[in-house]
Amino acid sequence: MGKTILATGGAGFIGSHITLELLNSGYDVVVFDNLSNSSPKSIARVARISNGAPVFIKGDVRDAAALNALFASHEIDAVIHLAGLKAVGESVAHPQRYYDVNVAGSTTLFNAMLHHGVKHLVFSSSATVHGAPKTLPMRENDPTRPVSPYGSTKLMVEQILTDVSKVGAGWSSMILRYFNPVGAHPSGQIGEDPLGTPDNLFPFIAQVAAGRRECLQIFGTDYPTPDGTAIRDYIHVMDLARGHVKAIKHLLEQRQPVNTTEVVNLGTGKGASVAEVHRAWEQAIGADIPARNAPRRPGDAPHYCADTGKAKALLGWQARYTLAQMCQDHWRWQQINPEGYGT
Ligand code: NAD
Ligand code: UD1
Repeated sequence: MGKTILATGGAGFIGSHITLELLNSGYDVVVFDNLSNSSPKSIARVARISNGAPVFIKGDVRDAAALNALFASHEIDAVIHLAGLKAVGESVAHPQRYYDVNVAGSTTLFNAMLHHGVKHLVFSSSATVHGAPKTLPMRENDPTRPVSPYGSTKLMVEQILTDVSKVGAGWSSMILRYFNPVGAHPSGQIGEDPLGTPDNLFPFIAQVAAGRRECLQIFGTDYPTPDGTAIRDYIHVMDLARGHVKAIKHLLEQRQPVNTTEVVNLGTGKGASVAEVHRAWEQAIGADIPARNAPRRPGDAPHYCADTGKAKALLGWQARYTLAQMCQDHWRWQQINPEGYGT
């Protein structure tokens, strides 16, 4: 019998790509999402381009009754918990919202899972739990010192999950720390659809390239990096999605002892500077993209880059997509969907 995966937040940017990859790998998928930062059109598009259709349930991860009803009516084999808020600046302005959705939402979900005997969980965490790294590449057991409430919520859930996994309920769980997810499905049918002005580099450049915004600002040109601009480990969202399927298989095939959790980085292991990303985008679209130098953005670290050895050893997973493909796929999504999913 096929296995059924619950994807909380499965209508969002990363969740829609994971849902697609799970369906194409033969899993059934139930998406649970309150659509606070996504469109139901993403689910319809996933159904159009995949081997199946997910079940969609609109609901909030803080709603225990809705989760209990879901687990009572669907046989769930494993959960991928993506639902949450992710804007760093907003988390500084409204920390209580972030603790409520990201932390209380997670504990509500974990309680429902414990109650219904669902024992396998993959949690979407972020490399941002490290704050400013002292050594590179960044390893899973390097010190964690988040610098924003968003990062603190991710670290708290990691700690809660580690403790819950130890209590003897037979859980096995995996914490995946994403580096910088970018790109879109190569069909151009699903992708990132930010509300308002994008904070992140790829969606912002895409909108400048499309003529929706005048100019890219390069935040900081005096970093201790070869060209003075900050370096990040950008990872194609399809590589990330494939990593989740590997993690789910690993847990369902019981290759990890029960009552344990593992933390795994998902990155490429190769950093690219803002200036390099800008050039890669210009090559992808075959035109100049206006840019100007601007001061550093507060809170930004000079350099993030994953040590990917554990993902390879444990999951047999390695990123495949190049920076050029990340730009090309993101650009295809932007061109086909100039206003994202629209209203
Ligand atoms: P996203 O906003 O596109 O997806 C999150 C989804 O969760 C959305 O569909 C939203 O509607 C839903 N959601 C929010 N609050 C909810 C609630 N209370 N109940 C139910 N659903 C709710 O973001 P994303 O980029 O796809 O990120 C997915 C996960 O990965 C998040 O947990 C995020 O923190 C984590 N993450 C993202 C990045 C990144 O760069 N995008 C990096 C590291 C970690
Ligand atoms: C940010 C968050 C991180 C989160 C991630 C994904 C901060 C400090 N970190 O990561 O917690 O997990 O997004 O949501 O907010 N840049 C420009 N011009 C722009 C936009 C960005 O030069 O218009 C630069 C930034 O200064 C940075 C790099 O591009 O050096 C990448 O920025 P971004 O895409 O926002 O990702 P992070 O800051 O790495």
